[in-house]
Amino acid sequence: MIWQELQKPFLILAPMEGVTDVIFRQVIAHAGRPDLFFTEFTNVSSYASEKGRWNALERLEIAPTDPPIIAQIWGKNPEHFAECAKVLESLGFAGIDLNFGCPDKNVNRAGGGAAMIKTPDLALECFENARKNTNLPVSIKTRLGWKEVDEFREWLPTLLSVHPAALTVHLRTKKEMSKVPAHYELIPEIIALRNQLSPETKLIINGDIKNRAHALELHEKYPEVDGFMIGRGVFANPYCFTDHQPTQEELMELLKLHLKIYEKPYPHALSHTLPYEPLKHFFKIYINNFPGASDLRAKLMATHSVKEAKDILKI
Ligand SMILES: Cc1cc2nc3c(=O)[nH]c(=O)nc-3n(C[C@H](O)[C@H](O)[C@H](O)COP(=O)(O)O)c2cc1C
Repeated sequence: MIWQELQKPFLILAPMEGVTDVIFRQVIAHAGRPDLFFTEFTNVSSYASEKGRWNALERLEIAPTDPPIIAQIWGKNPEHFAECAKVLESLGFAGIDLNFGCPDKNVNRAGGGAAMIKTPDLALECFENARKNTNLPVSIKTRLGWKEVDEFREWLPTLLSVHPAALTVHLRTKKEMSKVPAHYELIPEIIALRNQLSPETKLIINGDIKNRAHALELHEKYPEVDGFMIGRGVFANPYCFTDHQPTQEELMELLKLHLKIYEKPYPHALSHTLPYEPLKHFFKIYINNFPGASDLRAKLMATHSVKEAKDILKI
């Protein structure tokens, strides 16, 4: 079971919609991989519908450098959680994670993500439905609460009552989005809840962790935390899982690799041409912090194809 195999403290690349797709994960694996990858979240009702299934399966593509990797899913329909959970083992995933923390308005209006904090019975039903229909370990990623930080004292025990294989706590409420510093001061109380209610559940802390050195510093302070999850830290440094400070040349090599994989995504299950616009969001990761970087980035942002970008980069 993957969660037992990971050495403490393990590092995870956070699931990030529109970022941690099958292409970017390969770039990060090249720069220095985390101990564990998560996919972007996939909607279970999309998977359960004939129209949405192909799209869902594309989001669940796995590259050779991905394993071990966890599939993250979201939704609010317990039957659809069951249906989706049934297939994930055969696709090659090491585990299933349920997203009970996304603050996106559309996701919450659909009753999913952080909205699950307000419907705890439904959240547990979705969890049980996933767990009953797979041999894979099922974990949960969530926030402290919907509106008030104090809500974690009721919400986390609710989740720990079903003994998830792992629990990732993003140390903010849904209302706080990412606008306030993560509440590290609550870590000791969260550890105590885990130890008391479900000692077998791996505890993962998430929020504002910059890189490996920062995670190790937190681990020194809170040795009972099992793992640390880094999200936006990869924007500041794609090598954040190794603490290597890349040179401008190394970042340019990563950009070239990103474009190369984009042009030939593994393993061609993606039958249609990938849209170019979303790719442009990645440029600021690679072209940053050197004289002329903002001019070069502006030129790249005005392009409409990989070919145009490659012409500017002279590659
Ligand atoms: C662009 C973006 C997309 C995200 N998509 C997801 C997602 O699909 N699933 C999820 O659980 N969290 C998602 N998150 C939240 C991150 O996983 C993480 O919890 C959050 O960014 C806090 O960690 P950090 O401070 O290390 O970035 C997303 C965050 C960002 C910035």
